[in-house]
Amino acid sequence: MGASSSLDAAPLAQAMALVLTCCDGPQSTLDTAGVSAERIAELFWWMAGGAVVIWLAVVVLAVYAIHLRPEKHSQRAANRLIIGGGVALPTVVLAVLLVYALSLMPGLETGPESTRFEIEVSGEQWWWRVRYRLPDGESFELANEIRLPVGERVEIVLSSPDVIHSFWVPSIAGKRDMIPGRTTRLVLEPTRTGTFRGACAEYCGESHAWMAFFVVVMEEDGFEAWLEHQRSPGASRDDPIVTRGRELFLESGCGACHTVRGTRADGVVGPDLTHVGSRVSLAAATLENDVSAFEHWIAFSKDVKPGAQMPRFRMLPAEELAALAAYMESLQ
Ligand code: CUA
Repeated sequence: MGASSSLDAAPLAQAMALVLTCCDGPQSTLDTAGVSAERIAELFWWMAGGAVVIWLAVVVLAVYAIHLRPEKHSQRAANRLIIGGGVALPTVVLAVLLVYALSLMPGLETGPESTRFEIEVSGEQWWWRVRYRLPDGESFELANEIRLPVGERVEIVLSSPDVIHSFWVPSIAGKRDMIPGRTTRLVLEPTRTGTFRGACAEYCGESHAWMAFFVVVMEEDGFEAWLEHQRSPGASRDDPIVTRGRELFLESGCGACHTVRGTRADGVVGPDLTHVGSRVSLAAATLENDVSAFEHWIAFSKDVKPGAQMPRFRMLPAEELAALAAYMESLQ
């Protein structure tokens, strides 16, 4: 008996482990790392707990009616049960939940935000344009990555030039749509350091599923250093292959779509590549960030990401691809 029950328990334990591993990780609404996400998770647990209690009550009543007291009940008792359990109870439960959920909302939206910088995020097809605006009037752009200091409220200003997207970092906050012709706002207030994954949560076209990003939450010192570094022009290594890559980049017309600050490349169609080698991922969290991924992306962009505007450069000789990739990776 003992042996058979432990055998039976194995698949159940595996299933439970699977369910529980879905609850943590860098993109989980339940493994929270932000003030808004904590409130949302709290609401979820109250609702989940309430749903379980009500479900158990219904099961108990059903068992009672079918097996324990299967005889006919009085019409009065039946009416009491229908009006009490079917009308009054749902009204009260839903009203309480609604008031509780509404009471959580003001805390998600108000309060003083960071005055050190403002972040604008624009949903592109299919990547994220990120612009930091600093109080001295300067600004800089990067892509598919947002860095934040831990414990600070930051307002993200969201927009889109063409199709609808939705900005969502489940561990830190709720989601907010990015609607062409409108500006929407979302406050992020991270409570711990780490790297968290965000995703587009609204179907936006061919590569919707390949439109993700990372939010890196840093300690104050590291964040300030990062901010200073990002606003500086790109600096690449002094290495023959890197120099060759830079020449190719500037001569092959890459600068018509991409900017590398400090060079004459100043295109604005695609992502700013000034510090692309220092980012967590490539192609909106589709590829790792290393030399071979750069080569792969440059040669097979539309295979990696269907519908991407970046053309494939399969025609480039291997030596040129390697040089371009080395230059990209050197842009730290
Ligand atoms: Cu952008 Cu879905």
